[in-house]
Amino acid sequence: MYDIQSATTLSNGVKMPWLGLGVYKAQEGEEVKRAVRTALEVGYRAIDTAAIYENESGVGEAIQESGVAREHIFLTTKVWNDDQGYESTLQAFEESLHKLRTDYIDLYLIHWPVRGKYTDTYRALEKLYKDGRVRAIGVSNFHIHHLEELLKGCQIQPMVNQVELHPMLSQLELREFCRQRNIQMEAWSPLMKGGDIFQHSVIQELAQKYGKTPAQVILRWDIQSGIVTIPKSVTPSRIQENSDIFDFTISHEDMKKIDAINKNERVGTNPDKYDTM
Ligand SMILES: NC(=O)c1ccc[n+]([C@@H]2O[C@H](COP(=O)([O-])OP(=O)(O)OC[C@H]3O[C@@H](n4cnc5c(N)ncnc54)[C@H](OP(=O)(O)O)[C@@H]3O)[C@@H](O)[C@H]2O)c1
Repeated sequence: MYDIQSATTLSNGVKMPWLGLGVYKAQEGEEVKRAVRTALEVGYRAIDTAAIYENESGVGEAIQESGVAREHIFLTTKVWNDDQGYESTLQAFEESLHKLRTDYIDLYLIHWPVRGKYTDTYRALEKLYKDGRVRAIGVSNFHIHHLEELLKGCQIQPMVNQVELHPMLSQLELREFCRQRNIQMEAWSPLMKGGDIFQHSVIQELAQKYGKTPAQVILRWDIQSGIVTIPKSVTPSRIQENSDIFDFTISHEDMKKIDAINKNERVGTNPDKYDTM
């Protein structure tokens, strides 16, 4: 983890940057384009979008106009719940590809584990992988029991599980399950959507100690824990700030202090409690 472009190696050998830009709630058009452009200028090489964010077109345009070669960018998108199922996923994939102005996706994820559908959806992801349309496949919002169900029948193991993860929800059990199976963990809402976590006394104390901002301490904790992280911002100074996490190391003792903050508290939906979103 030397710099902003440092990457983890997924189980199939594909490299995925530890840090990416999330674009949930970045408005389609100028707002998302500016965010992606800024991130690429700062040095980010990974962007996380999804069909449901309705900003794939802006992401695609910004990438195309950036001057950064497509093969140097790690692009993630996700199949939405209404499109789940085998044929409908294949179709949704083509639509995402078209909007993103590219002919392959680096990582294609099942957005949520829709009951009765996600195993069929995953078969479509396996087909896309075998056909060379995506470089890696994975899931999002999968608990251990969802993964166990999926692993029983799949041919290709998911390479990534992207879940809500931050100091208040450290997901230790799921992390250990994934570590044992070589599934890379990825944190969404790593900053708890920019809320109260910045005021937490331990985060404040460590921010002072390391001469860093609360956001930087949390994002550094992610990557030092072996977790890929994708903070969202449309604010240029914050996009820069969130990437300045490669010039310090949190001590083992201080990592434990952050680990101890956990309260199993979510800012998003529990994957077991949603129905049709
Ligand atoms: N798979 C899933 O189901 C799922 C669910 C949710 C999110 N995600 C992905 O994960 C990404 C990140 O999650 P998120 O967007 O929910 O939340 P987040 O990254 O935890 O927080 C984003 C919020 O924090 C603010 N912020 C960013 N950097 C900051 C800083 N340095 N200081 C103060 N405030 C800061 C942003 O404001 P400004 O933008 O105004 O600067 C924004 O309001 C998403 O964008 C998306 O790509 C995936």
